Order: sequence, then C-alpha cells, then structure tokens
Amino acid sequence: MPRPPFLDQIALVTGASSGIGRATVLALAQCGAHVALAARSVDKLDEVAEEVRRLGRQALAVPTDVRRRADVSRLVRQTLATWGRIDILVANAGAYIRTPVPAMRVEHFEESFQVNFYGALYLIVESLPAMLERRQGHIVLISSMDAQKGMPLDAPYVAAKYALRGLGEVMRQELRPYGIFVTTVFPGRVDTPLIDYLDVPRISAKIPPANVAKAIVRAVRRRQPEVIVPRYAKALVYFNTLSPRLGDWLVRVFHFEGWDRRTRNSQRQ
Ligand SMILES: NC(=O)c1ccc[n+]([C@@H]2O[C@H](COP(=O)([O-])OP(=O)(O)OC[C@H]3O[C@@H](n4cnc5c(N)ncnc54)[C@H](OP(=O)(O)O)[C@@H]3O)[C@@H](O)[C@H]2O)c1
Repeated sequence: MPRPPFLDQIALVTGASSGIGRATVLALAQCGAHVALAARSVDKLDEVAEEVRRLGRQALAVPTDVRRRADVSRLVRQTLATWGRIDILVANAGAYIRTPVPAMRVEHFEESFQVNFYGALYLIVESLPAMLERRQGHIVLISSMDAQKGMPLDAPYVAAKYALRGLGEVMRQELRPYGIFVTTVFPGRVDTPLIDYLDVPRISAKIPPANVAKAIVRAVRRRQPEVIVPRYAKALVYFNTLSPRLGDWLVRVFHFEGWDRRTRNSQRQ
C-alpha cells in the first residue's frame, strides 16, 4: 500500500463542524494527518472528531469562536501543546453575510470581516511563529469565487473574501523563502448549510463539499498557489478579466447571485 501523503502530519482546521471544513478534516485524516478541529458547535465538533478517530488518526476538538482572539490563541496553544507543531493550517470558518447595497450598514461589514477576515488573520498570526521557527508549513485560506467576481447582494461577504485573497497573495510571496506555502481556495457554489436557503442557476449548480476537500488536499500536495473549484468556474473569471462589462452581463443573464427562498416566500405572502 502506498504511504499516505500526510502521514502523521498535524493539521488544524477551523469551521470543522460542517460542510467544507468537515469534509476537509476527513480528507486530511484519510491522508494520514492528525487533526485539531475548531468551531462553536461542540456536539457537531465531537462527532467529527470521533469520525477522525475511527479512521485511526488522533483528533483534538477545541470549541472556538474565531471572532475572539483569545479563543483562537487557546486553540493554537492547545494544538502545539498536544503535538508540538502545525504542518497544515486551514482557515475555513466563514459566514455568508449579504445585503442589497441600498440597505447596507457598516455593521454588516463589521460582522462579515470579524469572521471571514479577522477569524483567519488571528489564526495566522497565532500560528505563524511556530511555523517560522520550523521553517515549514502550509497555510490554506478558504476564500470564495465571490473574490474573483463579486456577486450582487453579497457586498459584505465579497469585501471580506477579497481582503482575505489579498492577504494570501502577499503571504504566499513573502513566506516562500521561509519554507511556508500558501494556497488560496476559491469555491463556487457548494452544497452546505451556508447557502441551503439559496436556489442557484443550473450553470453554477452546487457541488459536494467533498469535491472542495479533494481540491484542498491536491493543492497542499502540489503546493498550488490558487485553486478555483469547480474548474469550469474559471470561465467566468476569464470573461470578466477580458471585459468586466461582459462579466457583469453574464452574471445578470444567468442570475448567478441565485434566488433567496426566504425572500421569495415572504414576497408571496
Ligand atoms: N458553501 C458555499 O457555497 C461556499 C462558497 C465559497 C466559499 N465558501 C466558504 O467555505 C467556508 C466553509 O463554509 P461552508 O460552505 O462549509 O459552510 P457551513 O457548512 O455553514 O460551515 C461553516 C463553518 O464555519 C464555522 N463557523 C462559523 N462562524 C464561526 C465562528 N464565529 N467561529 C468558529 N467557527 C465558525 C461553522 O461552525 P459553528 O457554527 O459550529 O461555529 C461551520 O463549521 C466558509 O469560509 C465559506 O465562506 C462556501
């Protein structure tokens, strides 16, 4: 049997209780990693930790609210105290915060940045010293296709995910000489609770979270700088780069922003 690619490596995944995070935890464990799992829902986190142990790997579940720096600091400290290092860091915890532009308030952006940007930043700042000391590590940032082409109604989410993309772009270049690799992942629509109220056009159908997890594992193995998943979503990026007007037109024609079932229902009442 071939040696698992991440045998006895230490991974830390935030947002591990559900969706992409859960799928990534299991994919990493299947590849031989021991995993520290973070999220707020203790019961769900424990269930995923149990699944990891059933795969014969070690798991450390640490209840964490990534908006609180003290929580993130404790998460990293507990991981280092348990295993002494972090080889693969996946900043995945996120929240989909949307509002039409005419109704937007600063609070929408603060809320979005707190989890989608600062949650990842705290994790990086807390973990980086240990990685720098060992001159080794791989940081994976889960951004969104929304940071390649911003969708209408998503302003707070888009702003935070673009910020994360920018951070990843710079970190990737600066950390390379220290032996630390950075991958930014841009998922399209994924079938998770995050967007379960959103109907999407068939052209951007929701993909299973396991597909994103597989892409993350591949990206770490190949040290890929950026990953768009599904790959065909690159077409929108291509057309938008060619002409933002064309990109806007495609979004409008195909209704890429989707339909919020809750709003539709309330409109019907
Ligand atoms: N689904 C999509 O279509 C899609 C597309 C592009 C990018 N993404 C990104 O993928 C990532 C994972 O999302 P998902 O689709 O897998 O959604 P999900 O199933 O709703 O999972 C979100 C995860 O983030 C955790 N989380 C949320 N707020 C948190 C907080 N304050 N502190 C700690 N953990 C928190 C949740 O756990 P608790 O609630 O237990 O804390 C949960 O484990 C997010 O960054 C999202 O923006 C998703």
